[in-house]
Amino acid sequence: ILAGVMAPLWPFVLAAASGILAIGMPHSRSPALHHLTKQLLQTYRKEVRPVHNWTQATTVYLDVSVHAVLDVDTQNQKLKTSIWYREVWDDEFLSWNSSMFDEIREISLPLSAIWAPDIIINEYVDIERSPDLPYVYVNSSGTIKHSKPIQVVSACNLETYAFPFDVQNCSLTFSSILHTVEDVDLAFLRSTEDITHDQKAFLNDSEWELLSVSSTYSILQNSAGDFAQIQFNVVIRRHPLVYVVSLLIPSIFLMLVDLGSFYLPPTCQARILFKTSVLVGYTVFRVNMSDEVPRSAGSTPLIGVFFTVCMAFLVLSLSKSILLVKFLYDERCSQQEQTLLCLRGDMDTNQRQMDPGAQLAGVTESPVCQEDQAPSGTLKEVWSQLRSISSYFQTQDQVDRQELGWLALLERFDRLLFQSYLIVLGLYAVTLCSLWVSWSGG
Ligand SMILES: *[C@@H]1O[C@H](CO)[C@@H](O)[C@H](O)[C@H]1NC(C)=O
Ligand SMILES: *[C@@H]1O[C@H](CO)[C@@H](O)[C@H](O)[C@H]1NC(C)=O
Ligand SMILES: *[C@@H]1O[C@H](CO)[C@@H](O)[C@H](O)[C@H]1NC(C)=O
Ligand SMILES: *[C@@H]1O[C@H](CO)[C@@H](O)[C@H](O)[C@H]1NC(C)=O
Ligand SMILES: *[C@@H]1O[C@H](CO)[C@@H](O)[C@H](O)[C@H]1NC(C)=O
Repeated sequence: ILAGVMAPLWPFVLAAASGILAIGMPHSRSPALHHLTKQLLQTYRKEVRPVHNWTQATTVYLDVSVHAVLDVDTQNQKLKTSIWYREVWDDEFLSWNSSMFDEIREISLPLSAIWAPDIIINEYVDIERSPDLPYVYVNSSGTIKHSKPIQVVSACNLETYAFPFDVQNCSLTFSSILHTVEDVDLAFLRSTEDITHDQKAFLNDSEWELLSVSSTYSILQNSAGDFAQIQFNVVIRRHPLVYVVSLLIPSIFLMLVDLGSFYLPPTCQARILFKTSVLVGYTVFRVNMSDEVPRSAGSTPLIGVFFTVCMAFLVLSLSKSILLVKFLYDERCSQQEQTLLCLRGDMDTNQRQMDPGAQLAGVTESPVCQEDQAPSGTLKEVWSQLRSISSYFQTQDQVDRQELGWLALLERFDRLLFQSYLIVLGLYAVTLCSLWVSWSGG
């Protein structure tokens, strides 16, 4: 019975259902989109700057937000950054009445089909890499929004002297490569205040910290005409902790150990060994660290200069120790020779016992002296013996005085070296502290 009643209603039910489906489906918009796109592009000429009155400039609104600092190459003075770039301009030929096109307010169009400004970054030194994004958004009043991520490799004057407490200031200048300010003008999309403190997109866990992005608009005048340009100054600061731990603290320890070696007596030969091993340690340290310290032709990092100065001190005090040992050794040698000569003469065993030179000369001479013993008791011979002994003591005295003089001189030099070492270390500490203060203030 029910089926019988419903039977004549079936076409209506189906019609209602299909009506609901048709309303719910986006399918209904597609013809309008198609129609609108066709309508917009049919008469569009992408070669022509999109203004009705040619005397009107097209204003391009720019926006940049720094996403990451990828590489800071001080040797080649290059900075590699990843930025989000956005440009917005008005196209007077791409506007429509949205109520005539199914309330469509915004459509996407292929970038290749419309006019686009030719804006480049003046500092770029390498191919900018950006994904090839094919579409732009256009709204019903003809405003075009185009945004893309770019990897910029730009030339930048990188300062390394304050490493690892360095702050770099690199600029990215955007301008049209061909169009003068009468044709294409530039402007900011956001307020400069917002751009300066925009760190939302910045990746924080890298070696560099973004301090600010200041921006200025200016007009560059040259022979080809006046060009509008917008400059973004990206100021970044290095996180120094890793370098403090791996570079500064070990170098300070090495210097302190080196300083400690001045407390060994200068005549102590172990000092040479000690200094040599510190020197070797220093060399190994520097070779290890040579990759970490940035190099540039223009400026040398201060800590590199300090390493070299400390090495120079080390070498100086090492050569001083070597000289000292050489002098002392020379004196001993000549003294021993004299002892030998004097002992060639006749001599009592008693006299030899009194003679400290003979004891110094060692045991080897005594058999020689004993062999040379001549039987004599004359006064003359005793006299000549006594004279030779006295002259020996005189020369010995002289040698001792000379030796003492040398020792005093070298000791004074040692003290001088120690003091200059202290001064250099103090300067090093003061410089590091002031660099650190200016870094944290920057
Ligand atoms: C174009 O604009 C200028 C002023 O901006 C005006 O003087 C000129 O008449 C305009 N030309 C046309 C064809 O509308
Ligand atoms: C858009 O079209 C509607 C209907 O065709 C019309 O009433 C309205 O005035 C138009 N708006 C503009 C800005 O032309
Ligand atoms: C198109 O976008 C511009 C800039 O965002 C805006 O000022 C304008 O009102 C928009 N037009 C419409 C019809 O939404
Ligand atoms: C960065 O350099 C530009 C000029 O190149 C200068 O105007 C700006 O003040 C500098 N910024 C900082 C924070 O030093
Ligand atoms: C980085 O830190 C700033 C504040 O220090 C924060 O506003 C921003 O969201 C952080 N960025 C990321 C990607 O976490």
